[in-house]
Amino acid sequence: MRELVSDEQVAAYREHGFVRVQGVLDRDQVEHFRGSAEAFLKAHRAESLETQGTFSQLVNVWQRDDDLRALTLDTRLGRIAEQLAGFPLRLWHDQMLVKEPHNNVATEFHQDRPYWPHAGDRLPLSAWIALVDVPPERGCMTFLPGTQDRTGLQPQDLHHEEDLFEMDPSLRWIPRVTVPLRAGDCTFHSGYTGHMALPNRTDLARLAHVVIYIDAATTYNGAPHVVTDPLGLAVGDRLDGDTFPRAWA
Ligand code: SIN
Ligand code: NI
Repeated sequence: MRELVSDEQVAAYREHGFVRVQGVLDRDQVEHFRGSAEAFLKAHRAESLETQGTFSQLVNVWQRDDDLRALTLDTRLGRIAEQLAGFPLRLWHDQMLVKEPHNNVATEFHQDRPYWPHAGDRLPLSAWIALVDVPPERGCMTFLPGTQDRTGLQPQDLHHEEDLFEMDPSLRWIPRVTVPLRAGDCTFHSGYTGHMALPNRTDLARLAHVVIYIDAATTYNGAPHVVTDPLGLAVGDRLDGDTFPRAWA
């Protein structure tokens, strides 16, 4: 297989727990998917899982919108994710995360993996794709480099600025890396890398499309989660099949 990201990018991801990949979408793709995302948001905003103003969160968009399905299951994106991870991946879920204009609310520091009902897995990762330019003042992400080895913490409240740091005070002193993105760029971050997103202080909505990839060997641990609750899974079942596709293989 042709290398999709450089050895340096793979090394940076493995060392820091995140990496920026510029230009994963070209200008035409950005315009197309931005239009699809705006239309989907307009129709479904009221279904947001998050209701405290941090962002509108629409989950498993790919199952309901053919255009955005093509983005979530994009072969190049999935192969980059596998190159970074170093092992076969499946889709866990996608989500549209939209910070409305002047929402003025940060997504506070947290790790993603503690929210998920997973077992038997190696390090999952998310692609956070900017569908508009996302400078710091529009709510770009900030990472805590090297924290992908901090496993074992309880789920953190992403509405609470201190929660992650109260759980592990040593994280407070790690230099923070803020990563602005142009439309069509993305960051990949691991499920344990501490991260936050700044508030949107601009007149334009911050549109991000997030694709979450998990180890293809991941099993269900029995905990409640909006994605697995309707599926009738038993503890130990593999998260595989059409619901968790490996479309890029
Ligand atoms: C955000 O986009 O506001 C947060 C994204 C994340 O937590 O992964
Ligand atoms: Ni997160």
